[in-house]
Amino acid sequence: MKKTLIITGGAGFIGSHVVRLFVKKYPQYRVVNLDKLTYAGNLENLRDIEKLPNYEFLKGDIVDGEFILDTFRKIQPDGIIHLAAESHVDRSISNPMDFIMTNIVGTVNLLNAARDCWKDNFSDKLFFHISTDEVYGSLGSTGHFTEETAYDPHSPYSASKAGSDHLVRAYHDTFGLPAVITNCSNNYGPNQFPEKLIPLFINNIKNNKPLPVYGEGINVRDWLFVEDHAAAIDLVFHKGKPGETYNIGGNNEWKNIDLIRKICGIMDNRLNRNPGTSEKLITFIKDRAGHDLRYAIDSSKIKNELGWAPSLMFEEGIEKTIDWYLNNQEWLNHVLSGDYEKYYEKQYSNR
Ligand code: NAD
Ligand code: DAU
Repeated sequence: MKKTLIITGGAGFIGSHVVRLFVKKYPQYRVVNLDKLTYAGNLENLRDIEKLPNYEFLKGDIVDGEFILDTFRKIQPDGIIHLAAESHVDRSISNPMDFIMTNIVGTVNLLNAARDCWKDNFSDKLFFHISTDEVYGSLGSTGHFTEETAYDPHSPYSASKAGSDHLVRAYHDTFGLPAVITNCSNNYGPNQFPEKLIPLFINNIKNNKPLPVYGEGINVRDWLFVEDHAAAIDLVFHKGKPGETYNIGGNNEWKNIDLIRKICGIMDNRLNRNPGTSEKLITFIKDRAGHDLRYAIDSSKIKNELGWAPSLMFEEGIEKTIDWYLNNQEWLNHVLSGDYEKYYEKQYSNR
C-alpha cells in the first residue's frame, strides 16, 4: 500500500536506523525525515540511503507550530513516527527549558497538525510516539516496568517525556486521534552521539582519557541493540493497536561498572593492549543528580501480541558496536567538534 510518512528526528541515533529500515523495506512509501539538525542530528548517518527516490529530508523545528502546520498541510502524511527530542539526561539537568520546548511543546505542535490535517477522519492514520522507560522512574533490585507501571519521572528529561506521553494519550482519549506509544529501554549501536555512556567510553578508551563513572557505578540499565528497536517500531507501526502502549526492552540488564569492564576488555583486545590496561582509566566521579538506580523492562506484551523479540545477543551487539566506532573515525571526528569540547569541559570538570 502507498503511504506517506513523516519521521521526526530521523537524523539522530535511533531515528536514522528507523528511516533506513522504512526507506529500504517499503520502497512504495514516501518517507519524509523532518529534523532540526541540532548537535545530535547528523545527515551523515543516512548517506547510504539519501539518494533513494522514496526518501526526502526536510530541515525544521517542531517547536515552530506554524511551520509544522504548514508542512503537514503540504505533505498530507498518513502516519507520523515521532522521535525528535532532546534526549540526554545530563543536558536536561543543566538546561531543562530546551527539553520542555522540544519534548512537550514540539509534541503538541505535531498532535495539533495531525488533527488539522486528518480533519477528524482518522481511518488508516497513525500518530506513533516514541518514548522511554525512564518515565516509569527507578526500580529497586527486583521487578520490571510493565505498561501498567505508574509514571514517576525524576529528571527534567524523563518528566518532559512523561508530559509528552500524557498529551499523546489525551489527544487519543479526547479527540479520538489514533495514537500509539512505545516505551523503550537504553539503546546502543552505531551512530550514537558520544555523550551517551557506550560511545563516550569507547572514544575515551581509544584516546586514553579517563572514564568518568558516576557514583559507584552500581546503576543498572537494560540494553537493546538499536536495530532491534527499529524492528519493533516497524512492527508496532503496522500491527500495533491505536490507544495502546508497548514496552520494548532487551531483557539484558547490566550494572554500569560491569558493562564498562566488559567494554574495556574488548577494547584491550581490539587495540592490542595488555589485558587490564583500559580498566585503569576508570575514574569514579560525583553522581548524576536524581540518578535512577535501575531500569528493567517487561516486554511480554509486544512479544505475545505482536511477536517481537530482540535478534542479537549482547556479546555480539557490543562487539559489533565497538568495531563500528573504531572503523568510523571520520564520523567521530565530524561530531567531535569545538562545541563538543565545550560541552565536555562543562560536564566533567570539577566532579
Ligand atoms: P538523539 O538525541 O540521537 O536524536 C534526536 C534527533 O531529534 C536529532 O536528530 C535532533 O536533531 C532532532 N531534534 C531535536 N530537537 C528537535 C526539534 N526541536 N525539531 C526537530 N528535530 C529535533 O536521540 P535518540 O537517542 O535517537 O532518541 C530518539 C527518541 O527515542 C527520543 O524521543 C528519545 O526520547 C527516545 N528514546 C531513546 C532511547 C535511547 O536509549 N537513546 C531509549 C528510549 C527512547
Ligand atoms: O532508558 C532509556 C534512556 O536511556 C533514554 O530515554 C535516553 O534518551 C538515553 O540517553 C538513556 O538514558 P541514560 O541516562 O540511561 O543513558 P546514559 O548513556 O546517559 O547513561 C547510562 C548510565 O551510565 C547511567 O546510569 C549514567 C551512567 N553514566 C553516563 C555517562 C554519560 C556514567 O556513569 N558516566 C557518564 O559519563
